[in-house]
Amino acid sequence: MKILSAEFIKSCERPDQFPQDRLPAVAFIGRSNVGKSSLINSLLRRKGLARVSRTPGKTQLINVFLVTTDDPRIRKFYAVDLPGYGYAKVSKTVRAGWQPMIEQYLTGHDGVRGVLLLVDSRGTEHHDADAVAWLIRSGIPVLLVATKSDKLTRSERAGSLAALRDAFGILEEADVLAYSSVTHEGRDELWQAIRKMVTSDE
Ligand code: GTP
Ligand code: MG
Repeated sequence: MKILSAEFIKSCERPDQFPQDRLPAVAFIGRSNVGKSSLINSLLRRKGLARVSRTPGKTQLINVFLVTTDDPRIRKFYAVDLPGYGYAKVSKTVRAGWQPMIEQYLTGHDGVRGVLLLVDSRGTEHHDADAVAWLIRSGIPVLLVATKSDKLTRSERAGSLAALRDAFGILEEADVLAYSSVTHEGRDELWQAIRKMVTSDE
């Protein structure tokens, strides 16, 4: 499969700014600094497309990218980079019902076909569990992606994936996929998962 184009469309700070054309969308979510923007760049094979930063909380807006491929099943879709949760003072809001804008985007938008929930391979935390619980309650398909897998040794990796599966044992359908934006491990599998989300008839 070839990525024909991947372009930044806009940053949204209010729900009424989201594209309204109902193209399928997959959203990337996870706590701050987990590697969302890096993964989007790796997946779309575009180095500087999404802003990467060492400083947590860099992405505060909903950034929308339009992707076109030569695969007829996913000819055109939005990749949506959501703001990181669990950063600084947002945790109370997260517990109360999550960041309202993220909620509004995910539930109020016909196009959203699924969420890739990124968690750090080296360990999960309660914000991740809150996110999974909320997504399940909302009936939104979710796939767990364990990021920064290059930071683990081969033997650590197996243990880490098993631990994540355990931690989110309530999730029957969601699998856990190891990903590295440095080595691009997991890229083909992630594309396969996205294809499945986008083509499922919701
Ligand atoms: P926010 O926008 O703040 O929520 O962060 P983010 O989730 O978009 O994370 P970002 O992609 O900006 O990456 C955060 C830091 O982790 C950067 O220093 C990246 O270089 C590093 N990083 C991201 N992915 C990987 C990976 O797969 N492997 C390694 N070794 N480092 C990574
Ligand atoms: Mg980011």
